[in-house]
Amino acid sequence: MTRAYSISVEDVAAERERVDQDLSQVDVSRVIKLDELELAEMGASDVRLRILAVSAEHNVDHAALADTVNIAELRGGKIYPGNSAVGEVIAVGSEVTRFKPGEIVLTHCNGAPDRFGFPKVIWAYDKPDSTGWYGEEAVVGDWQIVPAPLDCGLNLWEIAALPLRAPTAYHLWRRADGIFRVKVPEERLGTLNVMGFGGGVSELFLMLAKARGHNAFFCSGSAERRDALEAQGIAPIDQKAFNRFASRDDSKAFVKEVRGLTGGEGMHIVCDMLRGPLFNAGFAACAREGVIVSAGWQLTRDVEYNSAAASIKQITLDHTHYETLEGVEAATELYGSVFKPTIHSEIYAFEDLPRAMAEMHANTQTGIPIIRVAKEMPDAAAALVP
Ligand SMILES: NC(=O)c1ccc[n+]([C@@H]2O[C@H](COP(=O)([O-])OP(=O)(O)OC[C@H]3O[C@@H](n4cnc5c(N)ncnc54)[C@H](OP(=O)(O)O)[C@@H]3O)[C@@H](O)[C@H]2O)c1
Repeated sequence: MTRAYSISVEDVAAERERVDQDLSQVDVSRVIKLDELELAEMGASDVRLRILAVSAEHNVDHAALADTVNIAELRGGKIYPGNSAVGEVIAVGSEVTRFKPGEIVLTHCNGAPDRFGFPKVIWAYDKPDSTGWYGEEAVVGDWQIVPAPLDCGLNLWEIAALPLRAPTAYHLWRRADGIFRVKVPEERLGTLNVMGFGGGVSELFLMLAKARGHNAFFCSGSAERRDALEAQGIAPIDQKAFNRFASRDDSKAFVKEVRGLTGGEGMHIVCDMLRGPLFNAGFAACAREGVIVSAGWQLTRDVEYNSAAASIKQITLDHTHYETLEGVEAATELYGSVFKPTIHSEIYAFEDLPRAMAEMHANTQTGIPIIRVAKEMPDAAAALVP
């Protein structure tokens, strides 16, 4: 048995009842509960991990709210969430050759690659029988982990921020860039204008764009997060100056600002992980031949757009999900050199994970939230604790 957090259909229903089905009043810390989990028997190609640190991920918020789907119900009544972790290998099955006890590794959440490598389901979310990593120990297949790049220059918390968000950002970038280049080759336009809205994935996406020599713009409501990106050469746009696009006039003023910042051109690539009012703002801010990519739907799932305008401006919308296994390895190579994540000021204790999730939900954190799971760190990881 190990201690692990769970989300049960009863707790989701009880909290919804408490707030009279008003999702804006849900306290997710009342839904995510510290529980016990019987770990799976170790198979020949399995690895047993001691979890060292995890990051809070937004799909756990979606699971607790049951706002997109009621995943706890679909999974038979309960899920054990958490699909991003840094762990120490403590035992390996007889056929495991890539890893040995004592190694520090990262998990990835591609739960079942399709024939081209893209995830059909996500580990600890919709993958049947999968249990997540918001726990003290875990048993995973050896294909589910990659070596942690301990000498990449990042500290342990920064490394823990990346296993889910960096591969997502990497995939979004290679799709957006590839699609734009089908339309406009590099010799016609070398430097692109790239914009992302607030959030950890978008921040990493912009770091990639910047590293590839493009003009990057971060449109966020958080002054701390804008400042952190500005220090990396990514230009800030204060989303709250445009009231998060609440009215038509706000959106018009935003588009005017974008035209001013880009010499009248607009954004060639937009990363929109939130949708809702941000989708329309991103669409309006697009340059001709622009590409809008998304792997998220934090505010709404559904979008509506003027298809004629999209055709006439040659705008492409693309929908992505998590990376392939090869893409995960490639994204991990960029830790420290390209990906330098912003971390929330508090590192949460394991027992405070529900509060970390509630503060994420309330959007009060100044960077990616990290939870320290292991009190005692192995030497290799302890050396990276700031
Ligand atoms: N498909 C995948 O593989 C995948 C992977 C990772 C994430 N996701 C999804 O993508 C979404 C974003 O994830 P993330 O990890 O980047 O998020 P995150 O780091 O938790 O950041 C969320 C951001 O949302 C913004 N926000 C919150 N409320 C808002 C509002 N009312 N209006 C406008 N902006 C608001 C905040 O930006 P400000 O700075 O503007 O306040 C905040 O920084 C989530 O829905 C998540 O589930 C999908």
